[in-house]
Amino acid sequence: MGNTHTVRFEPVGIEIEVDEEETVLNAAFRQGIMLMHGCKEGQCSACKSFLLDGEVDLDRYSTFALPDFEEAEGWTLLCRAHPYSDLEVELINYDEEILHGGTPPRTVKTRVEAVESLTSDIRRLHLRVEDDEPFEFRPGQYVDIHVPGHEDAHRSFSMANTHSSAPGELEFMIKLYPGGRFSGLLADGAIKPGDALEVTGPYGVFTLRASSPRRLLFIGGGAGMAPILSLLRSLEETRSEREATYYYGARTEADLFHLDELAALPGTFVPALSEDSNGWNGETGLITDVVERLEDDISDVDAYVCGPPPMVEAAIALLEAKGVPEAHIYFDKFTTTADE
Ligand code: FES
Repeated sequence: MGNTHTVRFEPVGIEIEVDEEETVLNAAFRQGIMLMHGCKEGQCSACKSFLLDGEVDLDRYSTFALPDFEEAEGWTLLCRAHPYSDLEVELINYDEEILHGGTPPRTVKTRVEAVESLTSDIRRLHLRVEDDEPFEFRPGQYVDIHVPGHEDAHRSFSMANTHSSAPGELEFMIKLYPGGRFSGLLADGAIKPGDALEVTGPYGVFTLRASSPRRLLFIGGGAGMAPILSLLRSLEETRSEREATYYYGARTEADLFHLDELAALPGTFVPALSEDSNGWNGETGLITDVVERLEDDISDVDAYVCGPPPMVEAAIALLEAKGVPEAHIYFDKFTTTADE
């Protein structure tokens, strides 16, 4: 271990201790402080914050996430920043309700229970945690699954289940990519029931804000339905009275999965097909066009978006154009679909 420094976050007034060897984000996780984050690898800018005082050293990051001129102005990426003095950091993106609700991530061993086809290119992976301590997570969170045979390589996937309904179980929906490091192993049967896998987590802030009374609007596509399913299942378990509408886009009918369960969950379910809709009685078109067509006033919703990056970007643009404040739009585009 190296030297330890005190890092103070403004305007929330929280202080943590950070070793020079660790990033500010990891030190915060360790101490139960859930700062905003996404990729945790300097790619997405979700953790971007302003350095009011002090010196940091940054691990390798993308200049798309932090352009040089911003770095020169004092912006930094907390997932890449190691402190070299005490720091004062201004959080730009934070949520008081989430900040203190963090379960410190840890690495656990799991056993593969099942690998099943949901569609031609989406697999359901079911893991059981083998650990004496409960492995808790919030609906909407994700874990990093370590890629067998590749030390230090991991892939992030959101859980589709809830911890409360099946403690110790982790259920994922994983899109197969040609040559995908992890999904390739699933596709060719190299990961099978009985195998051991390590996971680290939980991570993620794609979680319900319990104190919000606003209507819920979910927009999901493909394997991006995993965390949305977790959130919807939790609404059902808690018998939530919050009004919810969930849009689910796919190319063809064969690409939709869990339709019966989704239709039975509370709220209004709108599946839509963007390509082959022969014999389909439901909505057609890109899911964002369907939302635009069916929703008039959505300025007062909490919106949750997860799916392929182009869908997520189109959905965010639509929501903003329809007057949904940025702070009420939650999205995941780095997990399940974008990282392979
Ligand atoms: S850049 Fe830090 S979490 Fe993505």
